[in-house]
Amino acid sequence: MRKTEISHPLQGIDRREILAWIWLLAATAAATKATQLTYGFVRASRAARQPTSFNAGTVADLPSPGDAPRAFPDGRFWLTQTQEGVAALDGVCTHLDCLLGWDEQAHEFACPCHGSRFDASGRYLTGPAPRSMDRFAVKIVNPEGAVVASTDFAAGVQAAPLAGADVDSSASLHIIVDITLEATGAPVA
Ligand code: FES
Repeated sequence: MRKTEISHPLQGIDRREILAWIWLLAATAAATKATQLTYGFVRASRAARQPTSFNAGTVADLPSPGDAPRAFPDGRFWLTQTQEGVAALDGVCTHLDCLLGWDEQAHEFACPCHGSRFDASGRYLTGPAPRSMDRFAVKIVNPEGAVVASTDFAAGVQAAPLAGADVDSSASLHIIVDITLEATGAPVA
């Protein structure tokens, strides 16, 4: 009687090859886990920021227009001076919430997760992000607490204009950033 030949799935593979495959699978699983942990660390919860209002220094401390934005790690925002005035840029990427970094050489914001980039005023440049960087509300107050300039998101004003402020007394004008009020960045065309 003729014997039926049944081929075994591991037929033709020697013990060393099997062990090598097991090691490869284990290493891949470990690398995947490590990537998840790193990604989880880099990703930022938008809701976790405390406090919600920041005294971000005085107008005299502001970076000049065109200079690198100033980081405020506790609030995860960056303060910058644009042609329109003082803007507080949300440091959380508009793609999948990774924390943006500042690339000194390119003079751009760069996302470590998927490579989106934004210019110094938060405008989208490249990558999978769907819109420019979001912005928080800014108020500039004098020593008496009176507001001398502010954002007005309802009116489309996303930077506190310095034109009306008394810049001679800039060392006494404080910048208050409220991260409970946020304007979403312009969508990518
Ligand atoms: S989270 Fe920034 S590009 Fe994806």
